[in-house]
Amino acid sequence: MAGGVGSRFWPMSTPARPKQFLDVLGIGKSLLRLTYERLLNIIPNENIYIVTNAEYYAMVKEHLPELDNKQILTEPERKNTAPCIAYAAAKIYALNKEANLIVAPSDHLILQQHKFERIINIALKNAKDNKRITTLGIKPTRPDTGYGYIQFFEEGDVVGGDVKKVKQFTEKPNKELAKIFLTSGDYCWNSGIFVWTAEVILNALKRFKPELHELFCKDFSVYFTEKEQQYVDAAFHAAENISIDFAVMENARNVSVVLADFDWSDLGTWGSLYEHLEKDHHGNATDNPDIRMIDAHDCLVKLPTKKKAIIQGLDDYIVVETEEKLLILKKSDEQNLKTYLKLIEQEN
Ligand code: GDD
Ligand code: MG
Repeated sequence: MAGGVGSRFWPMSTPARPKQFLDVLGIGKSLLRLTYERLLNIIPNENIYIVTNAEYYAMVKEHLPELDNKQILTEPERKNTAPCIAYAAAKIYALNKEANLIVAPSDHLILQQHKFERIINIALKNAKDNKRITTLGIKPTRPDTGYGYIQFFEEGDVVGGDVKKVKQFTEKPNKELAKIFLTSGDYCWNSGIFVWTAEVILNALKRFKPELHELFCKDFSVYFTEKEQQYVDAAFHAAENISIDFAVMENARNVSVVLADFDWSDLGTWGSLYEHLEKDHHGNATDNPDIRMIDAHDCLVKLPTKKKAIIQGLDDYIVVETEEKLLILKKSDEQNLKTYLKLIEQEN
C-alpha cells in the first residue's frame, strides 16, 4: 500500500512526494524501496503488487524498476486502505482463488530481517491453515494514539505460542484509553501488516462492508482485461473513504495476532523518526554540523544543508525546514499536525 499522503511528516512529505518515496533515514533508499526489498525473500518479484494513487505511478516505477507495469495498481482517488485492499484482494482472487496475501504498508522501519521472515511465515501458516485474519502485533512502549491496539487472549491459537486469538481491536484510541491499554499487559500495537487468504478478507468485507465488496467483486471477469481500469475507477469513485482498521479489524471475530519480536517503527511521524536517529548527549538529533544547540534538549532539527542556525532554550520540539516551508512543533502535539495543516490548506 503506497498511496497515502504522509501528512504527519510535513513539510518533508507532501502530497506531490509523500513519505513512502523519501529517503527518510538518509541511507539512499526510499521507504517504499526498503519495504519491497524486505518482502523479496518471502514473495517472488512477480507476485508483488503496489497499490497507489494514479499520480504516483511514475514515482513507483522510478523506485522499483524491477516491476512490470501490470504490477502497479492505480487508484483514481484516495479512499484510504479498505478500498485499496478490496481492489487488490479481488484482482488477486480473480487470478488465483487459493491465494494468500501479505498486506504491507510502505512507511515502516523493520531492522531484523530474519526475525521478520520468521514471524511472517508463522502468520502465513495461521492464515492459510486456520483461515483466520492474521495481523502482526508489536509490544507497545508508550501510550501512542497513532496506532491500533489489539487485546489478545493469553492462551495460544492452534499454531503455537506466538499466535494469540484477538479479543478486541481498537483503532487509534484517545490518550486515556491508550494509557489503560498500555498498563493492562494484554495489549499490543497493530503493526498494520496483515496476512490472510484472498477468500477470507473478501468474505470479511462482504460481511462488514457489503457495498464495498460489491463494487470490486461484482464482476471478476474484468480483471486483467482492458476493461479493468474503467471498472476500478468507477468503484473507487463510489467507494466509502475508510481504513481497513475501521472497516474490518474492529468488527471481525476470526482474528489472530502474531506477537512480533523484531524492532519495528511506523515512521509515521517526526517523533517516531527521532526515536531512531543518533542523538547528542542532550538528546538532540540534527543532521547538520552548522546547527548550534544551546541549552536545548530532546529536539529533532532538520534544516536545509547549508543553513547555519542557533537554537537556544528549546526542549522537546521538532524543527524542520525545507526551501518553502517551516515547521516548529511540540513533540507531544505531533498527532495534531494533520489538523493544523488544514489551516494552511484553507488559507490557500
Ligand atoms: N493505495 C493506498 N491508498 N494506500 C494508502 C491509502 C490510500 O488511499 N491511504 C493510506 N495508504 C497507505 C499508506 O501509504 C501507508 O503505507 C499505509 O497505507 C497505512 O496508512 P497510514 O495512513 O500510514 O495508516 P496509519 O499509520 O495511520 O495506521 C495504520 O498503521 C498503524 C501502524 O503503522 C493502522 O493500521 C493502525 O492500526 C496501525 O497501528
Ligand atoms: Mg502509517
